[in-house]
Amino acid sequence: MREDIFFEIHRDLPREGPGRNKYTRKAFQMLPKMEKPRILDIGCGPGGPTMELARLSQGEVIGLDIHQPFLDRLQKKIEEAGLSDRVQAVKGSMVEMNFAEESFDILWAEGSIFIIGFQRGLKEWRRFLKPKGFLVIHEMTWLKSGPPQEILDYWKKIYPGIKTIPENLELIPGLGYRHIGHFPLPEDAWWDEYYRPLERRIQSLRKKYAKDPKALAVLDNEQLEIDLFRKYSQWYGSVFYFMQKVKPLA
Ligand SMILES: C[S@@+](CC[C@H](N)C(=O)[O-])C[C@H]1O[C@@H](n2cnc3c(N)ncnc32)[C@H](O)[C@@H]1O
Repeated sequence: MREDIFFEIHRDLPREGPGRNKYTRKAFQMLPKMEKPRILDIGCGPGGPTMELARLSQGEVIGLDIHQPFLDRLQKKIEEAGLSDRVQAVKGSMVEMNFAEESFDILWAEGSIFIIGFQRGLKEWRRFLKPKGFLVIHEMTWLKSGPPQEILDYWKKIYPGIKTIPENLELIPGLGYRHIGHFPLPEDAWWDEYYRPLERRIQSLRKKYAKDPKALAVLDNEQLEIDLFRKYSQWYGSVFYFMQKVKPLA
Protein backbone atom coordinates (compact mmCIF):
# COMPACT_ATOMS: atom_id res chain seq x y z
CA MET A 1 0.00 0.00 0.00
CA ARG A 2 1.21 3.51 -0.78
CA GLU A 3 1.43 4.89 2.78
CA ASP A 4 2.24 8.38 1.53
CA ILE A 5 -1.07 8.48 -0.36
CA PHE A 6 -2.94 7.05 2.62
CA PHE A 7 -1.64 9.84 4.84
CA GLU A 8 -2.26 12.46 2.15
CA ILE A 9 -5.88 11.31 2.05
CA HIS A 10 -6.21 11.46 5.82
CA ARG A 11 -4.18 14.60 6.51
CA ASP A 12 -6.17 17.31 8.30
CA LEU A 13 -9.56 15.60 8.08
CA PRO A 14 -11.88 16.72 10.89
CA ARG A 15 -11.82 13.20 12.36
CA GLU A 16 -10.09 9.89 11.74
CA GLY A 17 -13.10 7.70 12.36
CA PRO A 18 -16.84 7.94 12.92
CA GLY A 19 -17.97 10.11 15.80
CA ARG A 20 -19.17 13.55 16.81
CA ASN A 21 -18.72 15.59 19.96
CA LYS A 22 -22.41 15.26 20.77
CA TYR A 23 -22.02 11.45 21.00
CA THR A 24 -18.86 11.73 23.11
CA ARG A 25 -20.96 13.96 25.37
CA LYS A 26 -23.88 11.53 25.44
CA ALA A 27 -21.51 8.68 26.33
CA PHE A 28 -19.74 10.67 29.05
CA GLN A 29 -23.04 11.64 30.60
CA MET A 30 -23.96 7.97 30.97
CA LEU A 31 -21.19 7.60 33.57
CA PRO A 32 -21.69 8.61 37.20
CA LYS A 33 -20.43 12.10 38.08
CA MET A 34 -16.75 12.13 39.01
CA GLU A 35 -14.61 14.85 40.54
CA LYS A 36 -11.85 15.73 38.01
CA PRO A 37 -11.28 12.18 36.73
CA ARG A 38 -7.99 11.08 35.16
CA ILE A 39 -8.76 9.89 31.62
CA LEU A 40 -6.73 8.11 28.93
CA ASP A 41 -8.01 8.48 25.34
CA ILE A 42 -6.45 5.53 23.48
CA GLY A 43 -5.88 5.90 19.71
CA CYS A 44 -6.92 9.54 20.00
CA GLY A 45 -6.12 10.58 16.40
CA PRO A 46 -6.18 14.38 16.04
CA GLY A 47 -7.94 14.54 19.41
CA GLY A 48 -11.65 15.29 18.84
CA PRO A 49 -12.75 13.10 21.75
CA THR A 50 -9.70 14.07 23.88
CA MET A 51 -10.62 17.76 23.81
CA GLU A 52 -14.31 17.11 24.37
CA LEU A 53 -13.49 14.91 27.38
CA ALA A 54 -11.25 17.63 28.79
CA ARG A 55 -14.10 20.16 28.51
CA LEU A 56 -16.67 17.77 29.97
CA SER A 57 -14.69 16.34 32.85
CA GLN A 58 -12.53 19.25 33.99
CA GLY A 59 -10.06 16.45 34.78
CA GLU A 60 -6.64 15.41 33.51
CA VAL A 61 -6.71 13.85 30.04
CA ILE A 62 -3.98 12.05 28.07
CA GLY A 63 -4.46 11.45 24.33
CA LEU A 64 -2.33 8.51 23.17
CA ASP A 65 -1.63 7.76 19.51
CA ILE A 66 1.11 6.20 17.41
CA HIS A 67 1.01 8.71 14.55
CA GLN A 68 2.94 11.90 15.33
CA PRO A 69 1.16 14.22 12.84
CA PHE A 70 -2.17 13.49 14.59
CA LEU A 71 -0.54 14.25 17.96
CA ASP A 72 0.83 17.52 16.55
CA ARG A 73 -2.70 18.55 15.67
CA LEU A 74 -3.92 17.62 19.14
CA GLN A 75 -1.03 19.55 20.71
CA LYS A 76 -2.06 22.64 18.74
CA LYS A 77 -5.66 22.30 19.98
CA ILE A 78 -4.45 21.93 23.57
CA GLU A 79 -2.37 25.10 23.31
CA GLU A 80 -5.13 27.08 21.59
CA ALA A 81 -7.58 26.09 24.33
CA GLY A 82 -5.05 26.98 27.07
CA LEU A 83 -5.31 23.48 28.55
CA SER A 84 -1.62 22.48 28.66
CA ASP A 85 -1.78 22.15 32.45
CA ARG A 86 -4.17 19.19 32.30
CA VAL A 87 -4.25 17.77 28.75
CA GLN A 88 -1.32 15.96 27.14
CA ALA A 89 -0.62 14.41 23.71
CA VAL A 90 1.53 11.31 24.19
CA LYS A 91 3.14 9.12 21.54
CA GLY A 92 2.89 5.39 22.18
CA SER A 93 1.29 2.15 21.16
CA MET A 94 -1.91 0.76 22.65
CA VAL A 95 -0.38 -2.71 22.53
CA GLU A 96 2.48 -1.85 24.88
CA MET A 97 1.35 0.92 27.21
CA ASN A 98 3.54 1.57 30.23
CA PHE A 99 1.39 3.83 32.39
CA ALA A 100 1.24 3.12 36.11
CA GLU A 101 -1.19 0.36 37.05
CA GLU A 102 -4.57 1.48 38.45
CA SER A 103 -3.85 5.10 37.54
CA PHE A 104 -6.91 6.08 35.42
CA ASP A 105 -10.55 6.61 36.37
CA ILE A 106 -11.64 6.23 32.75
CA LEU A 107 -10.14 4.58 29.66
CA TRP A 108 -11.74 5.88 26.46
CA ALA A 109 -11.25 4.58 22.89
CA GLU A 110 -13.38 5.80 19.98
CA GLY A 111 -13.08 3.57 16.92
CA SER A 112 -9.59 2.35 17.80
CA ILE A 113 -9.84 -0.85 19.85
CA PHE A 114 -10.08 -2.88 16.61
CA ILE A 115 -6.30 -2.36 16.29
CA ILE A 116 -5.63 -4.56 19.32
CA GLY A 117 -9.00 -6.39 19.16
CA PHE A 118 -12.00 -6.11 21.49
CA GLN A 119 -11.13 -9.06 23.71
CA ARG A 120 -7.39 -8.39 23.96
CA GLY A 121 -7.99 -4.68 24.55
CA LEU A 122 -10.38 -5.33 27.45
CA LYS A 123 -7.98 -7.84 28.94
CA GLU A 124 -4.71 -5.89 28.60
CA TRP A 125 -6.00 -2.40 29.36
CA ARG A 126 -7.84 -3.42 32.54
CA ARG A 127 -4.76 -3.12 34.74
CA PHE A 128 -4.49 0.63 34.07
CA LEU A 129 -7.95 1.26 35.54
CA LYS A 130 -8.45 2.11 39.19
CA PRO A 131 -10.80 -0.32 41.00
CA LYS A 132 -14.38 0.40 39.78
CA GLY A 133 -12.96 2.57 36.96
CA PHE A 134 -14.75 2.77 33.60
CA LEU A 135 -13.89 1.62 30.10
CA VAL A 136 -15.79 3.33 27.28
CA ILE A 137 -15.21 2.35 23.66
CA HIS A 138 -16.99 2.33 20.36
CA GLU A 139 -16.34 -0.61 18.16
CA MET A 140 -17.40 -1.83 14.72
CA THR A 141 -20.26 -4.27 15.29
CA TRP A 142 -22.80 -6.26 13.27
CA LEU A 143 -26.16 -4.66 14.07
CA LYS A 144 -28.10 -7.68 12.77
CA SER A 145 -27.09 -11.25 12.23
CA GLY A 146 -26.90 -12.79 8.74
CA PRO A 147 -25.39 -9.88 6.76
CA PRO A 148 -25.27 -10.17 2.94
CA GLN A 149 -22.25 -12.03 1.52
CA GLU A 150 -20.66 -8.97 -0.13
CA ILE A 151 -20.34 -7.03 3.14
CA LEU A 152 -19.48 -10.14 5.14
CA ASP A 153 -16.58 -10.91 2.77
CA TYR A 154 -15.37 -7.31 2.90
CA TRP A 155 -15.22 -7.14 6.70
CA LYS A 156 -13.74 -10.63 6.96
CA LYS A 157 -10.73 -9.23 5.11
CA ILE A 158 -10.53 -5.84 6.87
CA TYR A 159 -11.49 -6.77 10.44
CA PRO A 160 -12.34 -10.42 11.00
CA GLY A 161 -12.89 -9.70 14.74
CA ILE A 162 -16.18 -7.84 14.13
CA LYS A 163 -18.99 -9.34 16.23
CA THR A 164 -22.66 -8.82 17.01
CA ILE A 165 -23.76 -6.82 20.10
CA PRO A 166 -24.75 -9.98 22.08
CA GLU A 167 -21.42 -11.63 21.20
CA ASN A 168 -19.48 -8.64 22.56
CA LEU A 169 -21.67 -8.35 25.67
CA GLU A 170 -21.11 -12.01 26.43
CA LEU A 171 -17.33 -11.47 26.62
CA ILE A 172 -17.46 -8.57 29.11
CA PRO A 173 -18.06 -10.34 32.48
CA GLY A 174 -15.34 -12.95 31.93
CA LEU A 175 -12.80 -10.19 31.30
CA GLY A 176 -13.37 -8.47 34.63
CA TYR A 177 -15.97 -5.82 33.80
CA ARG A 178 -19.65 -5.16 34.38
CA HIS A 179 -21.65 -4.07 31.34
CA ILE A 180 -23.38 -0.76 32.05
CA GLY A 181 -24.89 0.12 28.70
CA HIS A 182 -24.39 0.51 24.98
CA PHE A 183 -25.78 2.46 22.03
CA PRO A 184 -25.00 2.45 18.31
CA LEU A 185 -23.57 5.63 16.76
CA PRO A 186 -26.26 7.13 14.52
CA GLU A 187 -25.47 7.52 10.81
CA ASP A 188 -24.67 11.26 11.02
CA ALA A 189 -21.65 10.28 13.13
CA TRP A 190 -20.27 8.53 10.05
CA TRP A 191 -21.10 11.15 7.46
CA ASP A 192 -20.78 14.66 8.90
CA GLU A 193 -17.18 14.72 10.09
CA TYR A 194 -15.77 11.55 8.55
CA TYR A 195 -17.05 9.99 5.31
CA ARG A 196 -18.26 13.22 3.62
CA PRO A 197 -14.96 15.10 4.09
CA LEU A 198 -13.07 11.91 3.21
CA GLU A 199 -15.06 11.47 0.01
CA ARG A 200 -14.38 15.08 -1.02
CA ARG A 201 -10.66 14.53 -0.41
CA ILE A 202 -10.68 11.31 -2.51
CA GLN A 203 -12.38 13.15 -5.38
CA SER A 204 -9.83 15.96 -5.40
CA LEU A 205 -6.86 13.56 -5.20
CA ARG A 206 -8.22 11.56 -8.15
CA LYS A 207 -7.45 14.55 -10.36
CA LYS A 208 -3.96 14.96 -8.92
CA TYR A 209 -3.09 11.26 -9.34
CA ALA A 210 -5.02 10.60 -12.58
CA LYS A 211 -1.89 9.04 -14.14
CA ASP A 212 -0.67 7.09 -11.10
CA PRO A 213 -2.33 3.64 -10.96
CA LYS A 214 -0.90 2.76 -7.52
CA ALA A 215 -2.23 5.94 -5.97
CA LEU A 216 -5.58 5.41 -7.69
CA ALA A 217 -5.77 1.90 -6.21
CA VAL A 218 -5.42 3.37 -2.69
CA LEU A 219 -8.11 5.93 -3.48
CA ASP A 220 -10.42 3.18 -4.85
CA ASN A 221 -9.93 1.21 -1.68
CA GLU A 222 -10.94 4.14 0.53
CA GLN A 223 -13.93 4.88 -1.71
CA LEU A 224 -15.04 1.23 -1.52
CA GLU A 225 -15.38 1.44 2.28
CA ILE A 226 -17.65 4.49 1.90
CA ASP A 227 -19.72 2.93 -0.91
CA LEU A 228 -20.26 -0.24 1.10
CA PHE A 229 -21.38 1.73 4.15
CA ARG A 230 -23.84 3.63 1.93
CA LYS A 231 -25.25 0.32 0.72
CA TYR A 232 -25.18 -1.74 3.94
CA SER A 233 -25.28 0.66 6.89
CA GLN A 234 -28.37 -1.03 8.31
CA TRP A 235 -26.21 -4.14 8.88
CA TYR A 236 -23.23 -2.72 10.75
CA GLY A 237 -21.97 0.32 12.58
CA SER A 238 -19.91 1.43 15.53
CA VAL A 239 -21.44 0.75 18.95
CA PHE A 240 -20.53 2.53 22.16
CA TYR A 241 -20.04 0.05 25.03
CA PHE A 242 -19.75 1.16 28.67
CA MET A 243 -18.32 -1.06 31.33
CA GLN A 244 -17.02 -0.85 34.86
CA LYS A 245 -14.02 -2.70 36.22
CA VAL A 246 -14.97 -5.41 38.70
CA LYS A 247 -13.17 -8.49 40.01
CA PRO A 248 -12.86 -11.05 37.18
CA LEU A 249 -15.02 -14.15 37.31
CA ALA A 250 -13.12 -17.07 38.83
C1 LIG B 1 -10.09 5.20 13.48
S1 LIG B 1 -8.86 6.26 14.19
C2 LIG B 1 -9.78 6.93 15.56
C3 LIG B 1 -9.26 8.28 16.01
C4 LIG B 1 -10.03 8.98 17.14
N1 LIG B 1 -10.27 8.12 18.29
C5 LIG B 1 -11.34 9.55 16.64
O1 LIG B 1 -12.40 9.08 17.05
O2 LIG B 1 -11.30 10.51 15.85
C6 LIG B 1 -7.72 5.12 14.93
C7 LIG B 1 -6.49 5.77 15.53
O3 LIG B 1 -5.66 4.77 16.12
C8 LIG B 1 -4.31 5.14 15.90
N2 LIG B 1 -3.46 3.94 16.04
C9 LIG B 1 -3.17 2.98 15.13
N3 LIG B 1 -2.40 2.04 15.68
C10 LIG B 1 -2.15 2.42 16.96
C11 LIG B 1 -1.40 1.86 18.04
N4 LIG B 1 -0.77 0.70 17.92
N5 LIG B 1 -1.37 2.53 19.21
C12 LIG B 1 -2.02 3.71 19.37
N6 LIG B 1 -2.75 4.29 18.38
C13 LIG B 1 -2.82 3.65 17.19
C14 LIG B 1 -4.30 5.73 14.51
O4 LIG B 1 -3.15 6.54 14.30
C15 LIG B 1 -5.61 6.52 14.53
O5 LIG B 1 -5.42 7.82 14.99
